[in-house]
Amino acid sequence: MSFFTRQMFGQVQRRAFSASSRQASKVAVLGAAGGIGQPLSLLMKLNPRVTELALYDIKLGPGVAADISHINTKSTVKGYDPTPSGLRECLQGSEVILIPAGVPRKPGMTRDDLFNTNASIVRDLAKAAADAAPNANLLIISNPVNSTVPICAEVYKSKGVYNPKRLFGVTTLDIVRASRFVSEIKGTDPANENIPVIGGHSGVTIVPLLSQSGASDITGAKLDALIQRIQFGGDEVVKAKDGAGSATLSMAMAGARFAESVLKAAQGEKGVVECTFVDSPLYKDQGIDFFSSKVELGPDGVQKIHPVGAISKEEEKLLEACLTDLKKNIDKGVEFVKANP
Ligand code: NAI
Repeated sequence: MSFFTRQMFGQVQRRAFSASSRQASKVAVLGAAGGIGQPLSLLMKLNPRVTELALYDIKLGPGVAADISHINTKSTVKGYDPTPSGLRECLQGSEVILIPAGVPRKPGMTRDDLFNTNASIVRDLAKAAADAAPNANLLIISNPVNSTVPICAEVYKSKGVYNPKRLFGVTTLDIVRASRFVSEIKGTDPANENIPVIGGHSGVTIVPLLSQSGASDITGAKLDALIQRIQFGGDEVVKAKDGAGSATLSMAMAGARFAESVLKAAQGEKGVVECTFVDSPLYKDQGIDFFSSKVELGPDGVQKIHPVGAISKEEEKLLEACLTDLKKNIDKGVEFVKANP
C-alpha cells in the first residue's frame, strides 16, 4: 500500500464501514480553481468522510465542480458563483473551510512578498466565513501563513466570534517534506518517518526537530544541508516551475491530509496529532501569539497543544532565529487588519 493510501485512506475506508454517516461533513474550498485548489478539491471528493463539497473561486468554481461531481463517490459537489451570496451559500453549514485562495510565489520571491496581495484576499474571505459559518474549522493555506492566520484571528475578534481552537495554519507540507527528505538520506520508508516541524511556515521560521526523530544520528554538514532543504524546500519547486507558480500537488496532498485529520478528530477518533500553526500559549510571554507545535485535535478543534520538548543546542539556535522573524510576521498581519479593517 502506498504512503498516500496508508496515510489517508486506509483508516478512512475502515471508518466508512464502521460508523456510516453519523455526521454530515460539509467541506468548503475557497480558491478551488487554483493550482492547489483543484487537486485539493479532487482529494476531498475521494475522502469518504466528506458528505458535501462546496467549491468557490473568483473564476471557474462551477466548472471545476461540474468536473469533480462526476466522480463516483458518495459526496455531493456544488460550485458557487463569485458573488457575495454565492460565497455565503458556499460557506453556510461547513464543518471545514480550506483557504488556498491567493497568488503564489515566483522565483526570487519570499512568502512575505505575497503579503500585499494575499492579506486582503484572506481578510475578505475570513469576514465572509465569520459571518456565514463562525463555528467551522478554518484551515489557512494562503501565504504568508505566519501573517494570514493572525489576519483571520483579528477579523473573527472584530466580529466577536473568535474561537482560537478552530483556526489553523496548514504547515503540513513542511512535515511531509521533512519525512521525505530524511527517508532519501536514510533509505527508509517516508511513511515511517515522523519529524516534528515547529515554529512557522516560512524560511527560518520553519524549525525541524530532527533530534526528536529517527534522524537524530545525522550530524555535521549533512544535518545543516538537511535543515536548509526542509526550510527552503519550497524554493526548489518555485525554481523548477520557473515563474509558473509554487508547490501545488504536494501541497494539495498535505492540505488533504490535514483536513482528514481535522475530520477524523471531529468524528471522535482519539490521538490525532498534527503540527499546525495555532493560537498558542508556548511563547505568548515573548509577545508571540501564534506558533506551530504538535497539536492534538479533538471534536472541538484544538484539544491539546504539546510543548516543544527537549531539543538540541543547534535547534535552540534555530528556534531563536525563528521567534525573531515570527513575531514580525505575526505583528504585520495584526497591524494590517487594524489599518485596513
Ligand atoms: P493559484 O494562483 O494557482 O490559485 C489561486 C486561486 O485563488 C485562483 O484560482 C484564484 O482565482 C483564486 N482566488 C484569488 N482571489 C480569490 C478570492 N478573493 N476568492 C476566491 N478565490 C480567489 O495559486 P496556488 O498555487 O494554488 O497557491 C495558492 C496559495 O497557497 C498561495 O498563496 C501560495 O503561496 C499558497 N501556498 C501555501 C502552501 C503552504 O504550505 N501553506 C504551499 C504552497 C502554496
